[in-house]
Amino acid sequence: MIVLGIETSCDETTAALVDDARVIRGQAVLSQMDHRRFGGVVPEIAARAHLTHLDRLIGAAFAQAGLDFEKADAIAATCGPGLIGGVMVGAMTAKAFSLALKKPFLAVNHLEAHALTPRLTGNVSFPYLLLLVSGGHCQLLAVEGVGRYRLYGTTRDDAVGEAFDKVAKLLDLGFPGGPTVERAAREGDAARFDLPHPMLGHDSMDFSFSGLKTAVRHAAHGRDLSPQDKAGLAASFQQAVCATLADRAARAAGQFRQDYPEGRVLVAAGGVACNLAVRESLAACAARAGLDFIVPPPALCTDNAAMVAWTGIEKLRLGLTDALDFAPRPHWPLTDLTE
Ligand code: KG4
Ligand code: ZN
Repeated sequence: MIVLGIETSCDETTAALVDDARVIRGQAVLSQMDHRRFGGVVPEIAARAHLTHLDRLIGAAFAQAGLDFEKADAIAATCGPGLIGGVMVGAMTAKAFSLALKKPFLAVNHLEAHALTPRLTGNVSFPYLLLLVSGGHCQLLAVEGVGRYRLYGTTRDDAVGEAFDKVAKLLDLGFPGGPTVERAAREGDAARFDLPHPMLGHDSMDFSFSGLKTAVRHAAHGRDLSPQDKAGLAASFQQAVCATLADRAARAAGQFRQDYPEGRVLVAAGGVACNLAVRESLAACAARAGLDFIVPPPALCTDNAAMVAWTGIEKLRLGLTDALDFAPRPHWPLTDLTE
């Protein structure tokens, strides 16, 4: 079984072919760089770029796999959540392929694609505890199966990736923010600035990052920041994030073990899971909770089409195909999957 996956929900235009033996047969990616000078993703520019480049990238993915279009058994596209202009480009393209090739169409939830990636890269079995940390989301969930999620906690304000991006902008470190903050933090002394560790010990499994971001702004305010200041602030910020993520995940691990005694794994997914310090603190947290820690390789943590194709395979195996009148959804929580 081979599925074509299409991902266009933010600023990566990408197409991939994945088979049910968990092999990525072909993948073509365009990371849009036109947003750089705006310091953030501009939805209109993103949508137009997806429209311009997607067809060519799909062709490149098939060429890399050495396959004709007819060899795809189904077509999967991210149909939300995300920037709706881009999502519509991907969804409409997938529907057109589906109609022309007479192959099933699969409407993939972008968060589910992140959530199921460890089953593509590591064959993890259900149930598992998931920390989803991306530019738009920060959630702890129990993954019971395809389409079956129990939400433990979520952010009350900013997503964690968004906080990284805003701090990068504040410190003038460049775009995209996460990797630049991580790089700066490597050179900095985390003890130099005393930043709050939001929600530490709070008796929910929720997150909050806007106070931390504001604390970085206050610490930076009115100073002519030297490179050491910036590195120190980046390091203090990253350490506060790591402490918060580990604390919240530890709390969720306790709940998860109670709810699913057979569960053995903590998974991290989404762009922020690329961060080495985040990975280390979560690995330590999992070890303390008696869980294995699994995180996909960085290229499959950030947005990619292989995860969309894989989710297509998972859905197709269960016969969960979608009708061609499926309407793309800018907001589409994981707890609202109909299957
Ligand atoms: O999953 P993703 O590619 O897209 C969304 O679905 O949002 O995540 C993007 C987010 C961005 O906020 C980016 O700054 C963050 O992931 N990110 C990182 C790192 N690499 C990407 N955050 C911290 N450290 C990194 N190395
Ligand atoms: Zn994503």
